[in-house]
Amino acid sequence: RLKVAVIGGGSSYTPELIEGFINHYGSFPVRELYLVDIEEGRRKLETVGRLAERMIAQAGVPIRVHTTLDRREAIAGADFVTTQMRVGMLEARSRDEKIPLRYGLIGQETTGAGGFAKALRTIPVILDIAREMEELAPHAYMINFTNPAGVVTEAVLKYSGIRTVGLCNLPIGTKMQIAKLCGADVSDVSIEMAGINHLNWTTRIVVGGADITAAVLNKAAGASGLTMKNVPDFGWDAEFLRAMGALPCSYHRYYYMKDLVFEEMNKTFQEKGTTRADDVKRVENELFELYEDPGLAVKPPQLQQRGGAYYSEAAVNLMTSIYNDKRDLQIVNVRNDGILPFLPADASVEVNCVIDSQGAHPVRIEAPIPPQIRGLLQLVKAFEELTVKAAAEGDYAVGLQALTLHPLVGSAKLAKQVFDEILAANAPYLPQF
Ligand code: G6P
Ligand code: MN
Ligand code: MN
Repeated sequence: RLKVAVIGGGSSYTPELIEGFINHYGSFPVRELYLVDIEEGRRKLETVGRLAERMIAQAGVPIRVHTTLDRREAIAGADFVTTQMRVGMLEARSRDEKIPLRYGLIGQETTGAGGFAKALRTIPVILDIAREMEELAPHAYMINFTNPAGVVTEAVLKYSGIRTVGLCNLPIGTKMQIAKLCGADVSDVSIEMAGINHLNWTTRIVVGGADITAAVLNKAAGASGLTMKNVPDFGWDAEFLRAMGALPCSYHRYYYMKDLVFEEMNKTFQEKGTTRADDVKRVENELFELYEDPGLAVKPPQLQQRGGAYYSEAAVNLMTSIYNDKRDLQIVNVRNDGILPFLPADASVEVNCVIDSQGAHPVRIEAPIPPQIRGLLQLVKAFEELTVKAAAEGDYAVGLQALTLHPLVGSAKLAKQVFDEILAANAPYLPQF
């Protein structure tokens, strides 16, 4: 009997996942679904659990939903453990976004100083979960969406013996955006991606067997709609794109359009005192009001307003392919092992992988990687490597090196000030420091 445990089951995103399990029941017959959360999330968990039961009853599939605060019970004997928690909840995200802004730095939940803070809070918890899996479900896969997904996945790869694959909706979202831009059906589009989570480039675009990368780069210049819902929709410059030779991802705007993005973020912050976390809180409240309606038995369309739209598609595709030894291609986060030879072998990378019952195996990247891509990747991966070590071992000096190195910080003095404020603001969540 296929058992799946969802850590952070009370998330507003969970109905996405439920819809995915329902739609894929034929090839991925989940029988026992455990939604786990912590005491503070009990009400959300119960609401989401009841909605899940209604969705499943309406679909007529025999999935049994269990809601529990007992993580060990949920993990024991599971085949898959998906992790989608937010340590410190939206309040912590709000602080992650606001602290950097007060120092004139971009405040983003997964990138720069904000992502660093999130990693420090999350890595101790994910390693606890990994240890419980070693004990209670040693053959299970951890499917990790918890952000910053690349850093968190790398911590699990380095500090535990369990099998894990990191996941983000950006690759699947990018494919959909490209299909829309070209007027093609998404099932005819295949893309090659090279890089790390929230910092990867689409290096090759093939539609109906033809390589149309150059044509898409031309079309993409100045175009809107080539971004996730949570990232500003600024168009790329035509000459810049041509010289890059690859399509940057949504999150590259924080690096290549640092000034523009900062200006916009800071304007909202100065005028209204808000960041993305505040918008998300509002959307979440609306979502939970809908979820509480006993007449609702489907995923409401309002969920598409969130940056994580379609993540269930990525998640359920991945688990289905592992379960069925499908050997298809998906873009996920795995151990590098030389696929990007200029990055450490034990780093996590987000690249095209063959998915089979043994997990995800990266495939050779066809496109050449020019210095402008290699250079930024080495820099940000070095930041991530230092961040993983700082978070897992509670090493302040290493953390300081990480933050100073990050292109969105880049100053030892600011790094120290921001780091100290992060430590003070997150003290209850940082047992390692
Ligand atoms: C993107 C990222 C996710 C992130 C989400 C945030 O899709 O891939 O990793 O969690 O956006 O969206 P939100 O609506 O919470 O700002
Ligand atoms: Mn993501
Ligand atoms: Mn294999």
